[in-house]
Amino acid sequence: MDTIFVTGNGPLIGQIPIAGAKNACLTLMPATLLSDEPLTLTNAPRLSDIRTMTALLTSLGAEVSSLQDGKVLALSSHAIGNHTADYDIVRKMRASILVLGPMLARDGHAIVSLPGGCAIGARPVDLHLRAMEALGAEMELRDGYVHAKAPGGLKGGIVEFPFVSVGATENILMAATLAKGTTVIKRAAREPEIVDLAHCLRKMGAQIEGEGTDTITVQGVDKLRGATHPVVTDRIELGTYMLAPAICGGEVELLGGRRDLVGAFCDKLDEAGVDVQETDNGLMVKRRSDHIKAVDVATEPYPGFPTDLQAQMMALLCTADGVSVLEEKIFENRFMHAPELTRMGAQIDVQGGTATVTGVKKLKGAPVMATDLRASVSLILAGLAAEGATKVSRVYHLDRGYEHVVGKLKGVGANIERVSDQ
Ligand code: EPZ
Repeated sequence: MDTIFVTGNGPLIGQIPIAGAKNACLTLMPATLLSDEPLTLTNAPRLSDIRTMTALLTSLGAEVSSLQDGKVLALSSHAIGNHTADYDIVRKMRASILVLGPMLARDGHAIVSLPGGCAIGARPVDLHLRAMEALGAEMELRDGYVHAKAPGGLKGGIVEFPFVSVGATENILMAATLAKGTTVIKRAAREPEIVDLAHCLRKMGAQIEGEGTDTITVQGVDKLRGATHPVVTDRIELGTYMLAPAICGGEVELLGGRRDLVGAFCDKLDEAGVDVQETDNGLMVKRRSDHIKAVDVATEPYPGFPTDLQAQMMALLCTADGVSVLEEKIFENRFMHAPELTRMGAQIDVQGGTATVTGVKKLKGAPVMATDLRASVSLILAGLAAEGATKVSRVYHLDRGYEHVVGKLKGVGANIERVSDQ
Protein backbone atom coordinates (compact mmCIF):
# COMPACT_ATOMS: atom_id res chain seq x y z
CA MET A 1 0.00 0.00 0.00
CA ASP A 2 1.40 3.37 -0.99
CA THR A 3 1.90 6.34 1.29
CA ILE A 4 2.03 10.04 0.46
CA PHE A 5 4.35 12.44 2.31
CA VAL A 6 3.49 16.17 2.22
CA THR A 7 5.54 18.93 3.80
CA GLY A 8 4.31 22.53 4.05
CA ASN A 9 6.27 24.49 1.45
CA GLY A 10 4.74 27.96 1.26
CA PRO A 11 2.70 29.56 -1.57
CA LEU A 12 1.74 27.59 -4.68
CA ILE A 13 2.15 29.10 -8.14
CA GLY A 14 1.22 27.77 -11.56
CA GLN A 15 -1.44 25.81 -13.44
CA ILE A 16 -3.31 22.58 -12.74
CA PRO A 17 -5.28 20.85 -15.54
CA ILE A 18 -8.69 19.51 -14.49
CA ALA A 19 -9.77 16.12 -15.85
CA GLY A 20 -13.13 14.76 -16.95
CA ALA A 21 -15.59 13.96 -14.16
CA LYS A 22 -15.45 10.56 -12.45
CA ASN A 23 -19.11 10.81 -11.46
CA ALA A 24 -20.18 11.66 -15.01
CA CYS A 25 -18.06 8.95 -16.63
CA LEU A 26 -19.45 6.32 -14.23
CA THR A 27 -22.97 6.95 -15.46
CA LEU A 28 -22.06 7.58 -19.13
CA MET A 29 -20.27 4.22 -19.49
CA PRO A 30 -23.33 2.03 -18.61
CA ALA A 31 -25.31 3.98 -21.26
CA THR A 32 -23.49 1.84 -23.84
CA LEU A 33 -25.75 -1.06 -22.72
CA LEU A 34 -28.74 0.84 -24.14
CA SER A 35 -27.60 0.47 -27.76
CA ASP A 36 -25.93 -2.07 -30.05
CA GLU A 37 -23.96 0.76 -31.67
CA PRO A 38 -20.60 2.11 -30.40
CA LEU A 39 -20.34 4.90 -27.80
CA THR A 40 -17.11 6.90 -27.61
CA LEU A 41 -16.33 8.99 -24.53
CA THR A 42 -13.59 11.61 -24.83
CA ASN A 43 -11.95 13.59 -21.96
CA ALA A 44 -12.29 10.47 -19.80
CA PRO A 45 -10.50 10.47 -16.42
CA ARG A 46 -7.85 7.82 -15.69
CA LEU A 47 -8.98 6.41 -12.36
CA SER A 48 -9.32 3.03 -10.63
CA ASP A 49 -13.12 3.45 -10.50
CA ILE A 50 -13.19 3.75 -14.31
CA ARG A 51 -11.21 0.52 -14.53
CA THR A 52 -13.71 -1.14 -12.18
CA MET A 53 -16.63 -0.01 -14.39
CA THR A 54 -14.72 -1.31 -17.40
CA ALA A 55 -14.35 -4.71 -15.71
CA LEU A 56 -18.06 -4.75 -14.87
CA LEU A 57 -19.20 -3.88 -18.41
CA THR A 58 -16.79 -6.42 -19.87
CA SER A 59 -18.20 -9.08 -17.54
CA LEU A 60 -21.64 -8.33 -19.03
CA GLY A 61 -20.36 -8.84 -22.57
CA ALA A 62 -19.61 -5.25 -23.59
CA GLU A 63 -16.32 -4.25 -25.20
CA VAL A 64 -14.40 -1.35 -23.69
CA SER A 65 -11.12 -0.10 -25.17
CA SER A 66 -9.06 2.57 -23.52
CA LEU A 67 -7.32 4.75 -26.14
CA GLN A 68 -5.03 7.79 -26.23
CA ASP A 69 -3.42 7.05 -22.88
CA GLY A 70 -6.85 6.35 -21.35
CA LYS A 71 -8.41 9.69 -22.27
CA VAL A 72 -10.76 8.07 -24.80
CA LEU A 73 -13.04 5.15 -24.02
CA ALA A 74 -14.48 3.22 -26.97
CA LEU A 75 -17.46 1.22 -25.75
CA SER A 76 -19.84 -1.13 -27.53
CA SER A 77 -22.34 -3.79 -26.56
CA HIS A 78 -23.60 -5.59 -29.63
CA ALA A 79 -25.41 -7.84 -27.18
CA ILE A 80 -25.51 -8.31 -23.40
CA GLY A 81 -24.12 -11.82 -23.01
CA ASN A 82 -24.46 -12.01 -19.22
CA HIS A 83 -27.16 -10.15 -17.24
CA THR A 84 -25.68 -10.68 -13.77
CA ALA A 85 -23.55 -7.95 -12.17
CA ASP A 86 -21.44 -9.97 -9.77
CA TYR A 87 -20.88 -9.12 -6.08
CA ASP A 88 -17.11 -9.37 -6.50
CA ILE A 89 -17.15 -6.31 -8.78
CA VAL A 90 -20.16 -4.46 -7.34
CA ARG A 91 -18.77 -4.51 -3.77
CA LYS A 92 -15.77 -2.46 -4.99
CA MET A 93 -17.90 0.37 -6.34
CA ARG A 94 -21.52 1.36 -5.59
CA ALA A 95 -21.95 3.04 -8.97
CA SER A 96 -22.15 -0.49 -10.37
CA ILE A 97 -25.89 -0.31 -9.62
CA LEU A 98 -26.12 1.96 -12.71
CA VAL A 99 -26.11 -1.06 -15.03
CA LEU A 100 -29.53 -2.08 -13.66
CA GLY A 101 -31.68 0.44 -15.57
CA PRO A 102 -29.95 0.01 -18.98
CA MET A 103 -30.02 -3.83 -18.87
CA LEU A 104 -33.66 -3.89 -17.76
CA ALA A 105 -34.66 -1.38 -20.45
CA ARG A 106 -32.82 -3.17 -23.25
CA ASP A 107 -33.52 -6.85 -22.50
CA GLY A 108 -36.29 -6.84 -19.86
CA HIS A 109 -34.24 -8.59 -17.18
CA ALA A 110 -31.21 -8.01 -14.96
CA ILE A 111 -29.61 -9.40 -11.81
CA VAL A 112 -27.45 -6.95 -9.88
CA SER A 113 -25.69 -7.51 -6.58
CA LEU A 114 -26.65 -5.15 -3.77
CA PRO A 115 -23.64 -2.88 -3.19
CA GLY A 116 -23.34 -3.54 0.60
CA GLY A 117 -22.12 -1.01 3.20
CA CYS A 118 -20.00 2.13 2.69
CA ALA A 119 -17.68 4.18 4.96
CA ILE A 120 -19.71 7.39 4.61
CA GLY A 121 -23.20 5.96 5.19
CA ALA A 122 -25.69 3.10 4.79
CA ARG A 123 -26.43 4.19 1.20
CA PRO A 124 -29.37 1.90 0.37
CA VAL A 125 -30.64 1.59 -3.24
CA ASP A 126 -34.37 1.44 -2.43
CA LEU A 127 -35.13 4.55 -4.52
CA HIS A 128 -33.58 2.89 -7.58
CA LEU A 129 -35.78 -0.16 -7.13
CA ARG A 130 -38.98 1.82 -6.46
CA ALA A 131 -38.33 3.88 -9.57
CA MET A 132 -37.95 0.77 -11.77
CA GLU A 133 -41.24 -0.56 -10.30
CA ALA A 134 -42.93 2.71 -11.31
CA LEU A 135 -42.01 1.77 -14.91
CA GLY A 136 -43.64 -1.63 -14.50
CA ALA A 137 -40.67 -3.77 -13.49
CA GLU A 138 -40.92 -6.55 -10.90
CA MET A 139 -38.09 -6.38 -8.37
CA GLU A 140 -37.16 -9.15 -5.99
CA LEU A 141 -34.28 -9.27 -3.50
CA ARG A 142 -32.78 -12.72 -3.22
CA ASP A 143 -29.41 -13.91 -1.80
CA GLY A 144 -27.99 -10.39 -1.80
CA TYR A 145 -28.98 -9.74 -5.39
CA VAL A 146 -31.68 -7.63 -7.03
CA HIS A 147 -33.62 -9.78 -9.51
CA ALA A 148 -35.42 -7.45 -11.92
CA LYS A 149 -37.72 -8.31 -14.78
CA ALA A 150 -40.06 -6.53 -17.16
CA PRO A 151 -41.24 -9.24 -19.56
CA GLY A 152 -43.22 -6.89 -21.81
CA GLY A 153 -40.59 -4.16 -21.58
CA LEU A 154 -40.68 -1.06 -19.39
CA LYS A 155 -43.64 1.31 -19.64
CA GLY A 156 -43.51 5.07 -19.14
CA GLY A 157 -44.78 6.30 -15.76
CA ILE A 158 -44.51 8.90 -13.00
CA VAL A 159 -41.48 8.60 -10.74
CA GLU A 160 -41.68 10.91 -7.71
CA PHE A 161 -38.61 10.68 -5.47
CA PRO A 162 -39.19 11.42 -1.75
CA PHE A 163 -35.82 13.22 -1.72
CA VAL A 164 -33.04 13.87 -4.22
CA SER A 165 -30.84 10.96 -5.29
CA VAL A 166 -28.18 11.41 -7.98
CA GLY A 167 -27.80 7.70 -8.71
CA ALA A 168 -31.51 6.86 -8.74
CA THR A 169 -32.17 9.78 -11.12
CA GLU A 170 -29.39 8.57 -13.47
CA ASN A 171 -30.60 4.95 -13.38
CA ILE A 172 -34.24 5.76 -14.15
CA LEU A 173 -33.31 8.39 -16.74
CA MET A 174 -31.37 5.75 -18.71
CA ALA A 175 -34.15 3.15 -18.28
CA ALA A 176 -36.89 5.55 -19.39
CA THR A 177 -35.20 6.24 -22.76
CA LEU A 178 -36.36 2.83 -24.09
CA ALA A 179 -39.65 2.54 -22.12
CA LYS A 180 -42.92 2.61 -24.04
CA GLY A 181 -44.56 6.01 -23.55
CA THR A 182 -43.74 9.00 -21.38
CA THR A 183 -41.90 9.04 -18.06
CA VAL A 184 -41.90 12.05 -15.73
CA ILE A 185 -39.21 12.13 -13.05
CA LYS A 186 -40.18 14.45 -10.18
CA ARG A 187 -37.72 15.77 -7.56
CA ALA A 188 -34.97 14.71 -9.91
CA ALA A 189 -31.36 15.47 -9.03
CA ARG A 190 -29.98 18.49 -10.93
CA GLU A 191 -26.26 17.73 -10.78
CA PRO A 192 -24.08 18.67 -13.82
CA GLU A 193 -23.29 14.96 -14.23
CA ILE A 194 -26.98 14.31 -14.91
CA VAL A 195 -27.13 17.14 -17.43
CA ASP A 196 -24.07 15.60 -19.10
CA LEU A 197 -25.76 12.18 -19.19
CA ALA A 198 -28.93 13.67 -20.72
CA HIS A 199 -26.84 15.43 -23.40
CA CYS A 200 -25.11 12.17 -24.29
CA LEU A 201 -28.40 10.21 -24.36
CA ARG A 202 -29.94 12.86 -26.60
CA LYS A 203 -27.01 12.41 -29.02
CA MET A 204 -27.92 8.69 -28.98
CA GLY A 205 -31.45 9.58 -30.07
CA ALA A 206 -33.23 9.81 -26.72
CA GLN A 207 -36.06 12.31 -26.23
CA ILE A 208 -35.47 14.15 -22.96
CA GLU A 209 -36.56 17.50 -21.56
CA GLY A 210 -35.87 19.29 -18.30
CA GLU A 211 -32.43 17.99 -17.30
CA GLY A 212 -30.91 20.37 -14.77
CA THR A 213 -34.34 21.10 -13.31
CA ASP A 214 -36.20 19.01 -10.71
CA THR A 215 -38.61 17.62 -13.31
CA ILE A 216 -37.33 15.57 -16.26
CA THR A 217 -39.64 14.23 -18.98
CA VAL A 218 -38.59 11.33 -21.21
CA GLN A 219 -40.42 10.13 -24.29
CA GLY A 220 -39.40 6.53 -24.83
CA VAL A 221 -38.02 5.45 -28.24
CA ASP A 222 -37.63 1.97 -29.80
CA LYS A 223 -33.90 2.12 -30.37
CA LEU A 224 -30.86 4.24 -29.53
CA ARG A 225 -27.86 4.79 -31.81
CA GLY A 226 -24.16 5.30 -31.15
CA ALA A 227 -22.53 8.64 -30.32
CA THR A 228 -19.32 10.43 -29.37
CA HIS A 229 -19.44 12.54 -26.20
CA PRO A 230 -16.88 14.58 -24.17
CA VAL A 231 -17.09 13.93 -20.41
CA VAL A 232 -17.86 17.14 -18.51
CA THR A 233 -15.16 18.73 -16.32
CA ASP A 234 -14.77 17.23 -12.85
CA ARG A 235 -16.21 19.91 -10.55
CA ILE A 236 -15.07 18.05 -7.43
CA GLU A 237 -11.47 17.73 -8.63
CA LEU A 238 -11.75 21.42 -9.60
CA GLY A 239 -13.00 22.46 -6.16
CA THR A 240 -10.34 20.37 -4.47
CA TYR A 241 -7.46 22.09 -6.27
CA MET A 242 -9.06 25.54 -5.90
CA LEU A 243 -8.54 25.05 -2.16
CA ALA A 244 -4.77 24.48 -2.50
CA PRO A 245 -3.82 28.19 -3.02
CA ALA A 246 -6.54 29.16 -0.54
CA ILE A 247 -4.82 27.03 2.13
CA CYS A 248 -1.17 27.75 1.24
CA GLY A 249 -1.26 31.15 -0.41
CA GLY A 250 -0.03 31.86 -3.92
CA GLU A 251 -1.93 31.90 -7.18
CA VAL A 252 -3.07 28.88 -9.18
CA GLU A 253 -4.94 28.66 -12.48
CA LEU A 254 -7.24 25.66 -12.91
CA LEU A 255 -7.18 24.77 -16.58
CA GLY A 256 -10.63 23.80 -17.86
CA GLY A 257 -12.25 25.08 -14.66
CA ARG A 258 -15.82 26.45 -15.04
CA ARG A 259 -17.42 28.71 -12.43
CA ASP A 260 -20.98 27.56 -13.31
CA LEU A 261 -20.12 24.06 -12.08
CA VAL A 262 -19.05 25.27 -8.63
CA GLY A 263 -21.25 28.32 -7.95
CA ALA A 264 -22.21 27.67 -4.32
CA PHE A 265 -18.64 26.64 -3.51
CA CYS A 266 -17.24 29.87 -5.03
CA ASP A 267 -19.69 31.89 -2.93
CA LYS A 268 -18.32 30.28 0.23
CA LEU A 269 -14.72 30.88 -0.88
CA ASP A 270 -15.55 34.51 -1.49
CA GLU A 271 -17.05 34.76 2.01
CA ALA A 272 -13.84 33.23 3.41
CA GLY A 273 -11.67 35.79 1.62
CA VAL A 274 -10.63 33.88 -1.49
CA ASP A 275 -10.76 35.38 -4.98
CA VAL A 276 -11.91 33.32 -7.98
CA GLN A 277 -11.42 34.97 -11.37
CA GLU A 278 -12.44 33.51 -14.73
CA THR A 279 -9.59 33.41 -17.28
CA ASP A 280 -9.40 32.34 -20.92
CA ASN A 281 -8.18 28.92 -19.81
CA GLY A 282 -10.31 28.38 -16.72
CA LEU A 283 -10.30 29.83 -13.20
CA MET A 284 -7.57 31.72 -11.30
CA VAL A 285 -7.65 31.37 -7.51
CA LYS A 286 -5.83 33.36 -4.84
CA ARG A 287 -6.67 34.54 -1.33
CA ARG A 288 -7.17 38.24 -0.66
CA SER A 289 -4.93 38.28 2.43
CA ASP A 290 -2.99 35.84 4.60
CA HIS A 291 -6.10 35.37 6.70
CA ILE A 292 -9.04 33.10 5.91
CA LYS A 293 -12.33 34.05 7.56
CA ALA A 294 -14.44 31.39 9.29
CA VAL A 295 -17.62 30.52 7.38
CA ASP A 296 -20.58 28.20 7.98
CA VAL A 297 -21.33 25.53 5.40
CA ALA A 298 -24.24 23.11 4.92
CA THR A 299 -24.10 20.43 2.25
CA GLU A 300 -27.05 20.23 -0.14
CA PRO A 301 -27.93 18.61 -3.44
CA TYR A 302 -26.84 20.68 -6.50
CA PRO A 303 -26.91 23.68 -6.89
CA GLY A 304 -26.18 23.76 -3.15
CA PHE A 305 -22.75 23.19 -1.55
CA PRO A 306 -21.50 19.74 -2.63
CA THR A 307 -21.00 17.08 0.02
CA ASP A 308 -18.00 15.86 -2.00
CA LEU A 309 -16.16 19.12 -1.12
CA GLN A 310 -17.09 19.15 2.56
CA ALA A 311 -13.94 17.39 3.82
CA GLN A 312 -11.67 19.57 1.71
CA MET A 313 -13.44 22.75 2.93
CA MET A 314 -12.93 21.57 6.51
CA ALA A 315 -9.17 21.42 5.85
CA LEU A 316 -9.27 25.12 4.88
CA LEU A 317 -11.35 26.13 7.90
CA CYS A 318 -8.97 24.43 10.35
CA THR A 319 -6.72 27.51 10.14
CA ALA A 320 -9.39 30.19 9.59
CA ASP A 321 -9.89 33.15 11.92
CA GLY A 322 -12.81 32.16 14.16
CA VAL A 323 -15.32 29.34 14.47
CA SER A 324 -16.95 27.61 11.47
CA VAL A 325 -19.93 25.27 11.58
CA LEU A 326 -20.15 22.55 8.92
CA GLU A 327 -23.39 20.64 8.52
CA GLU A 328 -23.34 17.38 6.56
CA LYS A 329 -26.92 16.86 5.35
CA ILE A 330 -26.43 14.20 2.65
CA PHE A 331 -24.53 11.35 4.33
CA GLU A 332 -24.84 10.25 7.94
CA ASN A 333 -21.18 9.36 8.54
CA ARG A 334 -19.01 11.78 6.57
CA PHE A 335 -16.75 13.32 9.20
CA MET A 336 -14.15 10.55 9.42
CA HIS A 337 -11.46 13.03 8.36
CA ALA A 338 -12.11 15.11 11.51
CA PRO A 339 -10.18 12.90 13.97
CA GLU A 340 -7.30 12.71 11.49
CA LEU A 341 -7.19 16.52 11.13
CA THR A 342 -7.31 16.70 14.93
CA ARG A 343 -4.13 14.60 14.96
CA MET A 344 -2.58 17.50 13.00
CA GLY A 345 -3.60 19.95 15.73
CA ALA A 346 -7.02 21.04 14.45
CA GLN A 347 -9.81 21.82 16.92
CA ILE A 348 -12.96 20.09 15.69
CA ASP A 349 -16.02 19.06 17.71
CA VAL A 350 -18.33 16.64 15.90
CA GLN A 351 -21.89 16.21 17.16
CA GLY A 352 -23.93 14.00 14.83
CA GLY A 353 -24.15 15.73 11.43
CA THR A 354 -22.54 18.96 12.66
CA ALA A 355 -18.84 19.75 13.02
CA THR A 356 -17.71 22.91 14.82
CA VAL A 357 -14.21 23.95 13.72
CA THR A 358 -12.30 26.46 15.85
CA GLY A 359 -9.49 27.86 13.72
CA VAL A 360 -5.90 27.43 14.94
CA LYS A 361 -2.79 29.40 13.87
CA LYS A 362 -1.04 26.48 12.17
CA LEU A 363 -1.43 22.73 11.70
CA LYS A 364 1.45 20.36 12.42
CA GLY A 365 2.50 17.44 10.26
CA ALA A 366 1.58 13.96 11.62
CA PRO A 367 0.97 10.39 10.43
CA VAL A 368 -2.71 10.19 9.37
CA MET A 369 -4.97 7.62 7.75
CA ALA A 370 -7.24 8.04 4.71
CA THR A 371 -10.72 6.59 5.30
CA ASP A 372 -12.51 7.42 2.05
CA LEU A 373 -11.91 9.22 -1.23
CA ARG A 374 -12.64 12.83 -0.27
CA ALA A 375 -11.30 12.46 3.29
CA SER A 376 -7.95 11.33 1.83
CA VAL A 377 -7.48 14.45 -0.28
CA SER A 378 -8.52 16.73 2.60
CA LEU A 379 -5.56 15.35 4.60
CA ILE A 380 -3.22 16.11 1.72
CA LEU A 381 -4.58 19.67 1.48
CA ALA A 382 -4.09 20.13 5.23
CA GLY A 383 -0.55 18.77 4.93
CA LEU A 384 0.31 21.35 2.24
CA ALA A 385 0.17 24.13 4.85
CA ALA A 386 1.25 22.21 7.95
CA GLU A 387 4.53 22.60 9.78
CA GLY A 388 6.71 19.57 9.09
CA ALA A 389 5.82 16.37 7.28
CA THR A 390 2.43 14.69 7.09
CA LYS A 391 2.36 10.98 6.25
CA VAL A 392 -0.93 9.92 4.63
CA SER A 393 -1.47 6.17 4.48
CA ARG A 394 -4.11 4.07 2.64
CA VAL A 395 -3.95 6.39 -0.36
CA TYR A 396 -5.59 3.76 -2.58
CA HIS A 397 -8.76 5.64 -1.69
CA LEU A 398 -7.34 8.62 -3.57
CA ASP A 399 -6.72 6.69 -6.80
CA ARG A 400 -10.45 6.16 -7.12
CA GLY A 401 -11.09 9.82 -7.83
CA TYR A 402 -7.85 11.77 -8.46
CA GLU A 403 -5.42 11.18 -11.32
CA HIS A 404 -1.77 12.30 -10.87
CA VAL A 405 -2.43 14.16 -7.59
CA VAL A 406 1.29 14.18 -6.70
CA GLY A 407 2.33 15.38 -10.18
CA LYS A 408 -0.36 18.06 -10.31
CA LEU A 409 0.54 19.52 -6.89
CA LYS A 410 4.29 19.23 -7.47
CA GLY A 411 3.73 21.19 -10.69
CA VAL A 412 2.67 24.23 -8.64
CA GLY A 413 5.51 23.93 -6.12
CA ALA A 414 4.20 21.55 -3.47
CA ASN A 415 6.63 19.37 -1.53
CA ILE A 416 4.89 16.02 -1.97
CA GLU A 417 6.05 12.47 -2.62
CA ARG A 418 4.36 9.12 -3.10
CA VAL A 419 6.20 6.12 -1.72
CA SER A 420 5.21 2.53 -2.39
CA ASP A 421 5.65 0.25 0.58
CA GLN A 422 6.89 -2.76 -1.45
C1 EPZ B 1 -23.44 10.27 -5.97
O1 EPZ B 1 -23.65 9.15 -5.11
C2 EPZ B 1 -21.93 10.44 -6.08
N1 EPZ B 1 -21.35 9.22 -6.61
C3 EPZ B 1 -21.35 10.71 -4.69
O2 EPZ B 1 -19.95 10.97 -4.84
C4 EPZ B 1 -21.99 11.96 -4.12
O3 EPZ B 1 -21.53 12.15 -2.81
C5 EPZ B 1 -23.52 11.78 -4.09
O4 EPZ B 1 -24.01 11.47 -5.41
C6 EPZ B 1 -24.23 13.05 -3.63
O5 EPZ B 1 -23.88 14.13 -4.40
C7 EPZ B 1 -21.39 9.01 -7.95
O6 EPZ B 1 -21.92 9.77 -8.73
C8 EPZ B 1 -20.76 7.75 -8.44
P1 EPZ B 1 -27.35 9.81 -3.78
P2 EPZ B 1 -25.11 8.48 -4.98
O7 EPZ B 1 -28.14 8.69 -4.35
O8 EPZ B 1 -25.78 8.52 -6.28
C9 EPZ B 1 -29.67 8.24 0.11
C10 EPZ B 1 -17.64 10.75 -4.45
O9 EPZ B 1 -16.96 11.13 -3.48
N2 EPZ B 1 -30.29 7.23 -0.79
O10 EPZ B 1 -27.62 11.18 -4.29
O11 EPZ B 1 -24.93 7.17 -4.31
C11 EPZ B 1 -28.16 8.03 0.28
O12 EPZ B 1 -27.89 7.08 1.27
C12 EPZ B 1 -19.01 10.08 -4.22
O13 EPZ B 1 -17.29 10.90 -5.62
C13 EPZ B 1 -31.26 6.38 -0.29
O14 EPZ B 1 -31.61 6.45 0.89
O15 EPZ B 1 -25.79 9.49 -3.95
C14 EPZ B 1 -27.68 9.43 0.64
O16 EPZ B 1 -27.86 9.65 2.00
C15 EPZ B 1 -19.28 9.77 -2.78
N3 EPZ B 1 -31.80 5.45 -1.12
C16 EPZ B 1 -28.63 10.31 -0.18
O17 EPZ B 1 -29.76 9.53 -0.51
C17 EPZ B 1 -31.43 5.35 -2.45
O18 EPZ B 1 -31.94 4.50 -3.17
C18 EPZ B 1 -28.02 10.86 -1.47
O19 EPZ B 1 -27.47 9.78 -2.19
C19 EPZ B 1 -30.45 6.24 -2.95
C20 EPZ B 1 -29.89 7.18 -2.10
